[in-house]
Amino acid sequence: MSETANARAAALPHLRDSGLAKGDPIPLPLTMAAIYHTPGDATGFDEYGRFSNPTWDAVEHMLAHLEGAPCVAFPSGMAAICSLFFALLKTGDRILLPSDGYHTTRALADRFLKPFGVTYDVRPTSTFLDGGFEGYRLAFVESPANPGLDICDIAAVAKAAHMAGALLAVDNTTMTPFGQRPLDHGADIVVAADTKAPNGHSDVLFGHVASRNADIITAVTGWREISGSIPGPFEAWLVHRGLETLDVRFDRMCSSAEVIARRLKSHRSISGLRFPGLESDPSHNLARAQMERFGFLISFELASEDKAEDFINNCALMQAATSFGGVHSSAERRSKRGDAVPLGFVRLSVGCEPVEELWKAIEASLDKISG
Ligand SMILES: Cc1ncc(COP(=O)(O)O)c(C=O)c1O
Repeated sequence: MSETANARAAALPHLRDSGLAKGDPIPLPLTMAAIYHTPGDATGFDEYGRFSNPTWDAVEHMLAHLEGAPCVAFPSGMAAICSLFFALLKTGDRILLPSDGYHTTRALADRFLKPFGVTYDVRPTSTFLDGGFEGYRLAFVESPANPGLDICDIAAVAKAAHMAGALLAVDNTTMTPFGQRPLDHGADIVVAADTKAPNGHSDVLFGHVASRNADIITAVTGWREISGSIPGPFEAWLVHRGLETLDVRFDRMCSSAEVIARRLKSHRSISGLRFPGLESDPSHNLARAQMERFGFLISFELASEDKAEDFINNCALMQAATSFGGVHSSAERRSKRGDAVPLGFVRLSVGCEPVEELWKAIEASLDKISG
């Protein structure tokens, strides 16, 4: 991690300090409230639970510290993406999405934007720049994209999008702000599913939008207030707690992923291995230039659907589960979720287990299917 990322990590657990009065609890209190005491003029005070909540404020403060920008919290990653689309787009707009990114974002555009007259095109992440951005209101990328882990040059896309008059939004879910800060590369908006590594314990869904553009923050805050797409205070409290250990967990997960990817590469059962940290990976040079770490996701192919299922289900330290970024390692055969990948394609999320133990379990399961 760079000096500045280390400085941000060090300051994170102390963000509450400046607001503390003598006798206040050091950990964040949970405020469960639909209503607040507001006699007379309520301006400047918490008024109603759909408008504001002190526990959201605290988690947004942490996220803003990490992103270097104001943040608005949402009850899931998809709620954050919805807020962006519904708050910023209007009939007649065209948007550009990754063809190889999280499939639900395309489903959202197809099922719910199209009927309102917002059209969309798709492009592969690795060639996202090709074709330019003329005529688009918004370009939306994921880098690395889930699940194929291709990346795009965020700074180059931001520059080209801006020259064409388009906004650039980056879904930073696979990296977290400790792995990559797209706003520093010129993106206008970051969206992320904090359901994954930021919360890290696989027990809540959460999301956020970050932007240094005050109009965008006002628009998505207005969408949250009016649509009622609000995070629960308890979920916000759990994410606040998760964020306190994100640096430690992310560091362990990324370091372990580097070890495991190298060893997987030379295993006879594996083909099509993708991990941006490998020198042989097509994304490696760009990843080195743009990312702080190489992440904790690895993708690869096994010979068949059955072999992939057996590998996942028989690995003693692997949860067979969708999603990623939890303390436990997990893996999923992504064609199960409708991604356009081979039947034996596996997305592996490296967790916080000690790496040598984890590798022993992975190797044993791979050796078993290699027969
Ligand atoms: C890249 C990416 N973006 C957004 C989401 C949506 O997040 P959530 O499930 O919290 O709505 C996901 C979920 O897997 C994801 O992988």
